[in-house]
Amino acid sequence: MKRFFPTLAGICLLCAAAAAQPQLGKDSIQQIVKAMTAEEKALLVVGANMDEGPWKGQILSGTGGITCALDKYGIPYTVMMDGPVGIRLYDYNTTCFPTGLLTAASWDKEAAYRIGEAIGEESIAMGNDVILAPGMNILRNPLNGRNFEYFAEDPVLTGLIAAAYINGVQSKGVGTSAKHFAANSQETNRLDGDSRLDTRTLREIYTKAFELCLRDSDPWTVMASYNYLNGEYTQESYDLLTKILRNDFGYKGLVVTDWTGKRNTPKQLHAGSDLFMGGSPKQTAHILESLENGSLKMEDLDRAATKVLELIVKTPSFKGNRPSLKIDMEAGAKTAREVAGDGMVLLKNDGALPASPAKTALFGVYSYDLIQGGNGAAWVNSPHVVSLAEGLQNAGFTLDGDLAELYKGYDAFITQDVKNNHKINVHVGVAQKPELEITRPLIERSAKDNDLAVITIGRISGEGRDRIMDREFLLQKNELALIEDVCKAYHAAGKKVVLVLNICSPVETASWKEKPDAILCAWLPGQEGGDAIADVLTGKVNPSGRLPMTFPNDYFDAEGAENFPYNFISDRANESVVHPERRGLPLKNIAYTDYSEGIYVGYRYFNTNNKAVSYPFGYGLSYTSFEYSSPSVKLRGNDIVASVTVTNTGSVAGREAVGLYISAPLGSFSDKPSVELKEFGKTRLLQPGESETLSFTVPVRQLASFNSAASRWETAKGGYRAYFGANALEPAAEAAFRIGSAKTYKVSRACEPAN
Ligand code: BGC
Repeated sequence: MKRFFPTLAGICLLCAAAAAQPQLGKDSIQQIVKAMTAEEKALLVVGANMDEGPWKGQILSGTGGITCALDKYGIPYTVMMDGPVGIRLYDYNTTCFPTGLLTAASWDKEAAYRIGEAIGEESIAMGNDVILAPGMNILRNPLNGRNFEYFAEDPVLTGLIAAAYINGVQSKGVGTSAKHFAANSQETNRLDGDSRLDTRTLREIYTKAFELCLRDSDPWTVMASYNYLNGEYTQESYDLLTKILRNDFGYKGLVVTDWTGKRNTPKQLHAGSDLFMGGSPKQTAHILESLENGSLKMEDLDRAATKVLELIVKTPSFKGNRPSLKIDMEAGAKTAREVAGDGMVLLKNDGALPASPAKTALFGVYSYDLIQGGNGAAWVNSPHVVSLAEGLQNAGFTLDGDLAELYKGYDAFITQDVKNNHKINVHVGVAQKPELEITRPLIERSAKDNDLAVITIGRISGEGRDRIMDREFLLQKNELALIEDVCKAYHAAGKKVVLVLNICSPVETASWKEKPDAILCAWLPGQEGGDAIADVLTGKVNPSGRLPMTFPNDYFDAEGAENFPYNFISDRANESVVHPERRGLPLKNIAYTDYSEGIYVGYRYFNTNNKAVSYPFGYGLSYTSFEYSSPSVKLRGNDIVASVTVTNTGSVAGREAVGLYISAPLGSFSDKPSVELKEFGKTRLLQPGESETLSFTVPVRQLASFNSAASRWETAKGGYRAYFGANALEPAAEAAFRIGSAKTYKVSRACEPAN
């Protein structure tokens, strides 16, 4: 068989300008595709080697990938950089914004838009054309290593926050990549794990987030995930990429593969994958061989080449952007700090907060080395991370110097020790540090000398590895002892203890949450985290974040919790366990994962089954109080319009996040979640006594459940209830409405499980 491996010489030959070739422009795309040889098209749809070619030396280290330049047609190379919380580069500083989970916890589309805008601006400065973000997989389980990059356990919160982020980035003329499509909620064996789920679950949960995101935004690219879905790679699934994404959701942009090596290239192209990243010459060769042996049709390659050119003409590179390599770090820091304050969630407050500047004992290694974000594609090389110690000092607190010295010494030692000896590797970023054991006499001494104690508990995770339930979801011996001993000593001295969670995803809280006087979930808050936490602790910012994921009492309380590799420990840096059976590993949860909970993910399970949780979805406290009035729902054409008035009835200014949950009649279904989030919003900063009316428009179609047998959405007729308030367990207001006649919406029959 004829082999075609493009070499540098080959690329240069192809690039050699030839007279009278059509030149790339918005209106010449079809003409160029017609003029191109098969080789040229095959080069265009496969990411180029960044270290070889005319662009050698121009690509910034850490760049995710580039598309191939073909000078002959005036096609420049274009650049794609990671990732969701800021631009990941190795030799340049960029701003590390708060992570996705915090952004979603703000319940504030404007906050997501602002982060997007800022990343768009930094992209222009660094010569980036497409940011490989937002990450928008569903938080199916608290242990997924990439949860911090993603948004929520709910598809509406996920999809609409993602859309706002995309609109923000693209308002600056830079592209996005809504990733990873779809059902990619686990890192273990991430390249080859099979997510097994029924069609209703796929539609109502895992693709719903993308459906809504595509309704409200138009990402230049969608990234097809690594995993299998019901036995077929998503990148090779015509059902997923063409029937669902293109036909049902109407997506017109480009589908890029997650950074996979060679798979069944003609099958991927036929399915609807347009651009193969990071790209290997083997894929180019495979395309040409497949054309020759008839397993690939030219029309599939033409479609992909057209999509790539349609993308390229939109890019800053095509439009002549000259990267300045200078970022406005001050503007980035301002946005990072403000959004961080918007998404922190106050979980408990027995009168400890807001706190005035005081003599403070600061415990926990992460108090002195705040975790800004997580590892992998979302890692950001920020110039400086504001620790909580710095943040509190900036806010006027005086820290216990002896304790600070002790922790700084320990931090220096443990950072090195973890680097040298850590058992759990990470491929980009840093590993989890164990907590220091502090003796009781030291704690008791500190309780005499200080007026307040603050403890930080930290958790980091990242791409390529899921968290381990025993070691990372549960608090460890030293951490529990620290909480116990500090609370005892400070309470005995009549003083308060505040606990800060600097975490990538939920941890167990039920067994110890009674002890501290206040608990603030600060997530991974980006580079300005320390100042942002201090803003909330002092009341400069009134907390208004609400949980985007349930904190269960016990890990196993969630339906399907055992269907996850919850205590799987691997010695690999990047635990993509190809062929688990070859390594003698169990197949269940590694080779395949049953999404046995179906649509009952997170609050859909806990609320419907009245099962107690530690902190429910939508939970969060404020320093003020709000009252809801005039709830109403009206039918207007094909929409419902729901509105409610929120009044600040407390004594300080604050913002209130409001969810619109709907409880629907069963119709032809034997079960439905008790309530489901359909929209949300946030008030402006309301002064005491001030009111705002929030109004939500939801298409009647979005009240539907998915009937798999008939392959259609069905909105039942009958009596509905609308609940207002972020916390679905304790809605603040409700209203009834009726849908007079049932409605059905037919879609493709697609992605059905084998049996
Ligand atoms: C990740 C993507 C990322 C890509 C490029 C992959 O391993 O899954 O999220 O955008 O690498 O770095």
